[in-house]
Amino acid sequence: MSTILLAGGAGYIGSHTALELLNAGYDVIVVDNYANSSPEAIHRVERLTGNNIALYEADVKDTEALSRIFANHSIDAVIHFAGLKAVGESVQKPIMYYRNNIDTTLALLEVMNSYNVKNIIFSSSATVYGEENKVPFAETMPRGACTNPYGWTKSMMEQIFEDAAKADDKLSVVLLRYFNPIGSHESGMIGEDPQGIPNNLMPYVTQVAVGKRECLTIFGKDYPTPDGTCRRDYIHVVDLAKGHVKAIDYILAQDKCCEIFNLGTGVPYSVTEIVETFERVNNIKVNHVYGPRRAGDLAELYANADKAFNILGWKTEKTLEDMCRDSWNWQKNNPNGYRN
Ligand code: NAD
Ligand code: WQD
Repeated sequence: MSTILLAGGAGYIGSHTALELLNAGYDVIVVDNYANSSPEAIHRVERLTGNNIALYEADVKDTEALSRIFANHSIDAVIHFAGLKAVGESVQKPIMYYRNNIDTTLALLEVMNSYNVKNIIFSSSATVYGEENKVPFAETMPRGACTNPYGWTKSMMEQIFEDAAKADDKLSVVLLRYFNPIGSHESGMIGEDPQGIPNNLMPYVTQVAVGKRECLTIFGKDYPTPDGTCRRDYIHVVDLAKGHVKAIDYILAQDKCCEIFNLGTGVPYSVTEIVETFERVNNIKVNHVYGPRRAGDLAELYANADKAFNILGWKTEKTLEDMCRDSWNWQKNNPNGYRN
């Protein structure tokens, strides 16, 4: 049985991936400093699967703490989720974002090298396509100019991984570019638990629905899209987590690789469609108004998802209805997230 270390594994995507890896028969170890998460997420994954997870509280920038974990376990592959991800905050605190996101990456690569661990999967983002490329975004397109420091950290880290893979003929790297993950596990036991005012659309919608926020502002109604609101490639987090399992199967089967895969559905939905679908499937009103555009938003952003299908044999299975239902199921069962 192969052992996978999830750096930042207590977070939203990491906890769902931990669950799917365990279901697929992998052993899972998690390291997280809980900068944006809670150990409760991992305890719930243990309850859902009946498995134990070795859980370490540590900063992934800390090479000594990482070394102790690598010394304790025989690790076959690492998935690097650990990062700060709030776009607006990254504009206010760029140094903190560059320090955290890039140093976690360098520390992991250094310690992996010391312990001869040669497989790493990285949580990248569709944001690296920038403004210049045309939708649907394909992996063959060059990285573009990002609109914020968070995006630049992802772009720079992709470059770091590519350079490291070039220099080490044993190091395998898979860069996964996520589009817009939403939804939660169908149990409603794990989900997205943002601290403070949500930055992203779906948690804002669910918090309005549950009565924690008064009203959603839809940012812009004058985009060149069918209904004037922005369109995104929303992907169910369970589909996304299963994409990681396929990527782990793939990387462990290669002698050597350095590949990029989009993880998206290939189908865009508008903000208005999200709100209307959420209201319809959950039979609940979401107060909303239309406001001005948000700085930095692109009109449309969606994936060409062919490569992940052709090479990993992965495609999404969940519908927008599933995403809206499961997001609400998590929120209504856990109105205060993991702080119940
Ligand atoms: P998240 O905040 O829920 O998870 C990130 C985890 O990393 C958290 O548990 C946090 O505590 C941990 N972390 C941060 N810095 C750390 C450090 N120095 N040491 C140890 N742990 C640390 O976010 P998520 O949505 O699960 O995202 C996971 C990854 O995917 C991130 O790298 C994010 O940038 C990337 N990503 C997310 C999205 C999205 O919309 N959610 C889209 C594209 C890419
Ligand atoms: C989605 C749509 C908003 C909130 C971000 C990052 C990206 C990636 C995913 C990490 C947009 C609209 C939102 C609200 C709204 N993250 N919206 N009212 O901006 O596509 O992507 O998360 O890598 O890098 O930039 O996601 O959820 O913030 O917005 O109208 O209160 O919802 O304008 O059209 P985005 P989002």
